Amino acid sequence: MSATSTGQSTRQSTGQSTVAPASAPTAPTSQSSEPLLRATDLVKEFAVPGTGGLLGRADTFRAVDGVSLEVRARETLALVGESGSGKSTTARIVARLTDATSGEVVFDGEPVTRAKGDRLRRFRSDVQVVFQDPYSSLNPRHTVERIVTAPLVYQGREVPGGTRAFTQQLMERVGLDPDHHRRYPSQFSGGQAQRIGIARALAVSPRLVVCDEAVSALDVSVQAQIINLLRRLQREEGFSYLFIAHDLAVVRQIADRVAVMSKGRIVEQGERDAVFDDPQHEYTRTLLAAVPRIRPEWERARREAAEARAATATPDREAEAAGTEEETTA
Ligand SMILES: Nc1ncnc2c1ncn2[C@@H]1O[C@H](COP(=O)(O)OP(=O)(O)OP(=O)(O)O)[C@@H](O)[C@H]1O
Ligand SMILES: [Mg+2]
Repeated sequence: MSATSTGQSTRQSTGQSTVAPASAPTAPTSQSSEPLLRATDLVKEFAVPGTGGLLGRADTFRAVDGVSLEVRARETLALVGESGSGKSTTARIVARLTDATSGEVVFDGEPVTRAKGDRLRRFRSDVQVVFQDPYSSLNPRHTVERIVTAPLVYQGREVPGGTRAFTQQLMERVGLDPDHHRRYPSQFSGGQAQRIGIARALAVSPRLVVCDEAVSALDVSVQAQIINLLRRLQREEGFSYLFIAHDLAVVRQIADRVAVMSKGRIVEQGERDAVFDDPQHEYTRTLLAAVPRIRPEWERARREAAEARAATATPDREAEAAGTEEETTA
């Protein structure tokens, strides 16, 4: 448990949780291990359209209003909340795709909020982002080969084993046909294109992968496969996820901890089951009530994948397909 308390209300322990938080949310971070990422009191202000001009400063509103969060090594922190609550803006600050108005991000013990040059380049390799729409986040005029090696080229690094072999190896790891390395994004389905985005993120061996609604645009059965892929890759690579999703059924599948955002603030955060089973904040209850039920296919996928792993040491790739009608790389 690694919730922080700056500028936000956090879960209160009521003693009624079916799964109690590992530690009190307001407790200081364990001295034994620093989180991989710590964001403190992030604020992002945007100008209110139609205000300001030649004679005066524009009015501003706070899209992110004092967000503090931590992501530990190998864990998945899900950021949930209604549309416009500031999830993507928070993620963009964390990944240095936009600058915060104020606040600090520390990655692996080093402040990165104002990092430049080599430090920033290193950070950009340690933190990769997978976006919602694979087609708009992949250059349509570039082949898979060029797309997945681009982060290495940006880093000025050599492509180990040569571009083609490297690409094909990555394609296999994410469940794509390696013979398709010269194809363009438009020649892949949505789920396959998202696998290309994931391969690109993997190319630089990241330590944190930010997924901003990375499975939201996919069909339910394809979603399940991509989620299982993401989980397998995390097990194999040991990186962390900051996983943004508005779909709580998805979050329940993948998160270790959950932070709930509303109007630019984190109103509650805690262990996944504690937040789902015993939400403390009214807003979280409303959010959960809006989900009619956890989709049975997700529950079945989770249960079957766990059973398969436990009983027969089924290869992970097969477990990925659990709960879906058929295993395709759709
Ligand atoms: N570049 C920008 N300029 C002005 N306002 C912005 C900008 N980016 C985001 N906003 C505003 O900031 C608020 C938070 O947006 P953000 O995209 O972070 O929300 P979100 O929680 O990711 O929503 P969604 O679930 O719809 O993706 C919104 O009111 C949005 O309109
Ligand atoms: Mg968003």
